[in-house]
This record gives sequence, C-alpha cells and structure tokens, in this order.
Amino acid sequence: MYSRDEFFLLIEDLSLLPAISPSCRSAFDKMEDPEASLIGIGHLIEEDPGLASRLIKVANSPFYPYSGKVGSVREALVRLGLETTRGVILTTSLFDRIRGEAGVYALWQHSLAVSMISRNIAGHLRMPYPDEVALAGLLHDIGKIPYFMHDASEMHRSISDVDPGRPDYKREKEAFGMDHMEIGEHLTISWRFPSIVCAPIRWHHNPAKSPEADRTVVRIVALGDLIASAYGLGHPEFPFVDGDILQLTEELNLLGAEVTSLLTDFLYDRDLIVQRSHDVF
Ligand SMILES: [Fe+2]
Ligand SMILES: [Fe+2]
Repeated sequence: MYSRDEFFLLIEDLSLLPAISPSCRSAFDKMEDPEASLIGIGHLIEEDPGLASRLIKVANSPFYPYSGKVGSVREALVRLGLETTRGVILTTSLFDRIRGEAGVYALWQHSLAVSMISRNIAGHLRMPYPDEVALAGLLHDIGKIPYFMHDASEMHRSISDVDPGRPDYKREKEAFGMDHMEIGEHLTISWRFPSIVCAPIRWHHNPAKSPEADRTVVRIVALGDLIASAYGLGHPEFPFVDGDILQLTEELNLLGAEVTSLLTDFLYDRDLIVQRSHDVF
C-alpha cells in the first residue's frame, strides 16, 4: 500500500520502464534508430530468453490474424511490426507485475477482446493502420494497472461493487486524483507511442471530446469496449447502455450488415479468448 504521493511516484516510475530487462531497453532504444536493422534488434531481444519466447508465442497466437508459423524473434518482429512488439512487451510486463491479483485476468481478457474487436472494426472501415488500432485496444485500460499495484484489495472491492450511477473513472478520480484514462495517456506518451494509440486511451469514455484528427480511432476503441462488455468480456467500468453502441455505429457509418458481421465474428473471438488467453499471459 502506497501513500497518495507514492502513488504518483509509482506512475512516474512506470513511465520510465522499470519492468523491462536492460537488453529489452536497449532493443527499444534501437527501435527508434532508423538505421537499426531488425537482426540487431532481434539479437538484443534474444538476450532475454523469457521475452524472446513470449514474443514468438504472441506472433503465433490466434489473436494476431496472420497465417504460417514463426520460429524466430526476427520473424516475430516482421510479423508484429515494431510498434506492436513494443506495445505487447510493455503490456505483458506490466500485467506480470500484478499477476494473480483478483480481477487481473479478467482485465487481460477484456484488453485482448477490445483489441480484436477494434481491429475488426478498423478492417470494416478500411482504416490504413489496423495494427495501431488493435494496439490502442490492447492498451486502452493500461492506466488501471497502477491501482492494482497501489491497493489490489481495494481495486477488487470496487470491481465487485459496481455502482451503476458512478462509473469507475469517477471513483478513481475521487480516490486517487487521476482516472485510468489520464494515467494511461501519461504512460503511453512517456513510452513515445503515436497519437493514434494515445488518443483512444485518453478519450475512450468520452469520444465526443477527443481531438477531431483522432476521433474515428477513439470511437472504434470505445465501440470495441462496449461490445466486449455487452458480450461478457467487460471490466466493470460504466453503466452499460445499448443506445451508446447504436450511436457509435452510426457515427462510424457502419452499415447494419457490417455490425451484424462484427458481432458474429466476436462470438467466435470471445470463445477463442476465453479458451486461449492464457497462451500469451
Ligand atoms: Fe476504460
Ligand atoms: Fe475497457
């Protein structure tokens, strides 16, 4: 249990990437060097065998829509791309730190669900960056992790005692001075992700206020969040309202047939997530 000041220091600390190994940190530095080769980055990741095998597992998992098996870190980097690789490493490293706490596995499944639905919506809308949209979905609630570190039992109490009149982000703000969207944005900006990834993290509970340039991707992740919740892979956050789904599908100009296909796909994905989410965490 930390004091409130220590809680803010914890967030600062997380923004400096304490959870990753020195070789992984060097790999991240190299990823920002336009001259760096994938082979060089791959060698650095291989110096951390746990990380290397996890990355290969993720690239081969059914949660990424590619065919064929990859057998090396370099192939995994090619398949996932550098941005997704960084996102997956950071997300799983942070989740590792709260592994076993009540509610954590549900948050992991929820994050995977929102990522997969967001990618699907981006596909229907022919967005040029489906991987970044999927990454934004994976990271959208990353700002909740410090609460688990701060006081896991209090976090568990608030999950089990959802107040329909007060969404979790209002209670977070009252209790800690920062809600999970602000914390998530702070972390992802510090980790130097582009705005297509950071904006949905900041605005997924209030897309109307998001900067216009990123509003479509914010709406996609907000819709993914609602669909995951409607289909039983939510993480208690807000009172669920059917009308919000309708409004977002209209704002995104999704046709009725596209919405039906999205929901049908998610029925399959939901089973996949329930059965296989432990493969990569
Ligand atoms: Fe959220
Ligand atoms: Fe969420």
